[in-house]
Amino acid sequence: MTPADQIPQDASSLVLRRPDDWHVHLRDGGMLASVVEYTARQFARAIVMPNLKPPVTTVAEAKAYRDRINACLPPGSTFQPLMTCYLTDTSAPHEIERGFAEGVFTACKLYPAHATTNSDHGVTDIRNLLRVLETLQRIGMPLLVHGEVTDRHIDIFDREAVFIERVLIGMLRDFPALKVVFEHITTSEAVAFVEAGGPNIAATITPHHLAINRNAMFEGGIRPHFYCLPVAKREPHRLALRKAATSGSAKFFLGTDSAPHAAADKESACGCAGIFNAPYALESYAATFEEEQALDRLEGFASIHGPDFYGLPLNEEMITLKRTRTLVPETLVTGSASVVPFHAGETLAWRLVI
Ligand code: NCD
Ligand code: ZN
Repeated sequence: MTPADQIPQDASSLVLRRPDDWHVHLRDGGMLASVVEYTARQFARAIVMPNLKPPVTTVAEAKAYRDRINACLPPGSTFQPLMTCYLTDTSAPHEIERGFAEGVFTACKLYPAHATTNSDHGVTDIRNLLRVLETLQRIGMPLLVHGEVTDRHIDIFDREAVFIERVLIGMLRDFPALKVVFEHITTSEAVAFVEAGGPNIAATITPHHLAINRNAMFEGGIRPHFYCLPVAKREPHRLALRKAATSGSAKFFLGTDSAPHAAADKESACGCAGIFNAPYALESYAATFEEEQALDRLEGFASIHGPDFYGLPLNEEMITLKRTRTLVPETLVTGSASVVPFHAGETLAWRLVI
């Protein structure tokens, strides 16, 4: 077996420290029961998004959700869900601080109201969060940001870049030591912003934003399974993301944003945003890193930069990816619904072996 820092480009297997997923939607009920195994087989830990209906806003709700996740894990699984607190205009700083101190909340999630799926209870104005942000900065608790403005006058492809100007710059001027993860970044502007920031600013990058640009949504017709938020951008942005992810910079790390929706809910006149990439997430990242001749940097991105930013221990266990042609199924059945995975119908070059 080859250590991760000496991987030849034509390696037939790839051994890495077990990675973590720093941004995932595990859902609830039947969907949770169907999808959690895909995340748990690859990752030791995952930051679980709180955008349920209703959202996870209290310590008690987060504990109960964590119990429901754990109850769905396959026998013997050591997967650890890390819970997040959904911020609203009325979030109470003492509840957040208590949840963090008790080890229930790992981070807070900022959804601008109406920015994405189940964000109706999100924050309408960042000024409503001043006391919360003060608390997060003081206790060193990360703020995870869905970085898009919701102003309908701003073109959807510009919403991330405008969010930097209108919200992030001011927020970090007021709270310069706040730990911020700019989630699922999609633009060269976001890459530049994160690179220019201090060590308290980092970003997650998804497999799909590394693999597709906005053309994928319109190839020969409308392709709802490539629609997510923030929406994929032009090719130069994808290239900037690939460069950042494979650069070795500790500011960029793995966060799949796997967001399953029933196929029928995506293939509709008003299809839901979200790409279900959990089943082949590591294989997808490996493809990008191999194409960029950076397989030796995959372990840093997938398994080291995230825990270092969160101040958590590195995983000791190792995993192996084998070079083997892997056909991704067109659909995966989850209870009563079917869900279309990212890369459906494609053949990938790697497969995680258990
Ligand atoms: C996510 C979802 O479906 O919950 N959708 C998405 O397109 N990424 C929400 C989110 O992270 O924006
Ligand atoms: Zn998400």
